[in-house]
Amino acid sequence: MKVAFADVGIAGKPYETDVLAAATRVLKSGNYIGGPEVDALEREFAEFCGAAEAVTVRTGTDALTFALRAAGVGLGDEVITVPLTFIATAEAISHVGATPVFVDVDPETALMDTRRVAAAITRRTRAILPVHLWGQPVEMNTLMALGREHGVTVIEDACQAHGAEYRGRRTGNLGDLAAFSFYPSKNLGACGEGGMVTARDPGALALVRRLRDHGQAARYQHDVIGYNGRLDALQAAILRVKLRALDAANAQRRKIALSYEEALGDIPGVVLPRHPAHVLPVWHLYVIQVPERNRVRERLTAAGVETGLHYPTPVHLQRAYRFLGYQPGDFPISEQLAETILSLPFHPELGEAQIAYVADCLRSAR
Ligand SMILES: Cc1ncc(COP(=O)(O)O)c(C=O)c1O
Repeated sequence: MKVAFADVGIAGKPYETDVLAAATRVLKSGNYIGGPEVDALEREFAEFCGAAEAVTVRTGTDALTFALRAAGVGLGDEVITVPLTFIATAEAISHVGATPVFVDVDPETALMDTRRVAAAITRRTRAILPVHLWGQPVEMNTLMALGREHGVTVIEDACQAHGAEYRGRRTGNLGDLAAFSFYPSKNLGACGEGGMVTARDPGALALVRRLRDHGQAARYQHDVIGYNGRLDALQAAILRVKLRALDAANAQRRKIALSYEEALGDIPGVVLPRHPAHVLPVWHLYVIQVPERNRVRERLTAAGVETGLHYPTPVHLQRAYRFLGYQPGDFPISEQLAETILSLPFHPELGEAQIAYVADCLRSAR
């Protein structure tokens, strides 16, 4: 049996006809950049998150970059984040002229260890950027309290966590600002690139609106040096259709996570993902820990089971960030996780027979 890691195409999905109709509507309209589809998506996504406001942008990386700018982060500032994330989290910090300051992750959840953050705050710290990795929210109350105490903005990297909940509230409405990606493989994925910034307070995104459109406040009046960071109407229309299906898809992901838990629970040496009871993850990825990960992975590949690594090299050990002077051993939990984590096939269409096959292959691969 072949088990694909993900299934991002629209073919055969419950929303296929509606996506095609929405795309046709936009293509025929002649309105390709901005306009009613983009405005509607912003309203609907803000409502989905419970956020005061949402602004579409071209990518998740833009969303992070513009959110940092909206928080006033710039040259010489420090932003606290984690090394166990996709490189874009750190890139956005660097792109605004600031320096990423890493804190290690919690061994239980693989998310920012919020107990380590206070010690990393200096007089240069302007923001804290936790990552809701694999679809599970970070311990946000602690971070918001620290943010208030030290006058720093808390920005969620929610690129992997559309609809995840922390103490009954959704991502996008947990920090001061939040950044989402609509890369095709995300829980809410475009048929191309896309991103969104959300804010808890109305009016907080005025600068983001300008930055995405070459810094324009009005036509050809450029108040700040901006970017071409707009979402196109085609993606907005497609995302509106898929947003309506997101709660059902996330519920299906939760069912699949439970099936994996039952199927894998008794395999010796395999550590299953854990999260506290007050958190409702959306299972962007299902990530186990397994000794001799590379050997196990090869055997799964040979058996037709596609897997992923999220992520095999922590950011502080990437060549691009060597200039920061971090060394192996500086963030031992992230480094150890990077060697043992293995992302199993995971998408809402994954069937019970495939889950059972993955479990059998994993049992014999060990
Ligand atoms: C944690 C995280 N941050 C940032 C990004 C960047 O998003 P994008 O690829 O849309 O620029 C991604 C996704 O790729 C991500 O997974």
